[in-house]
Amino acid sequence: MAAYSETVVDHFENPRNAGEMDSPDGEATVRNPVCGDRMQVMLRINDGRIAKLQWLTRGCPAAIATSSWTSEHVEGWTLAEAEALTREAIAEGIGGLPRDKLHCSVLAADALQGAIADYRTRTG
Ligand code: FES
Repeated sequence: MAAYSETVVDHFENPRNAGEMDSPDGEATVRNPVCGDRMQVMLRINDGRIAKLQWLTRGCPAAIATSSWTSEHVEGWTLAEAEALTREAIAEGIGGLPRDKLHCSVLAADALQGAIADYRTRTG
């Protein structure tokens, strides 16, 4: 994985917050149309903030790393702050991605936004 940053390698080899969540407050599953990889995000929300993000991703090292990085960074964020997190910010946060792997950051961003939207729908 020479083309990946140390941050990507670290999150890929030591993924944070992976796994199922019982009765999440919001969840979403997205599939990357470019490669078919898939990510599910589950959220626990307390007082308008993300208390926990857990994820299940079937995908490349960059998809695993962006899932893990995002789960660690949005903890404690307000929903508005999390909604403002872009795929570009995620790619930058993990130390950049090779050009042909830039699309991989889309999974984490879109799954997070989808899970927040699901929460907002459930809670009206
Ligand atoms: Fe599929 Fe990276 S190659 S998300």
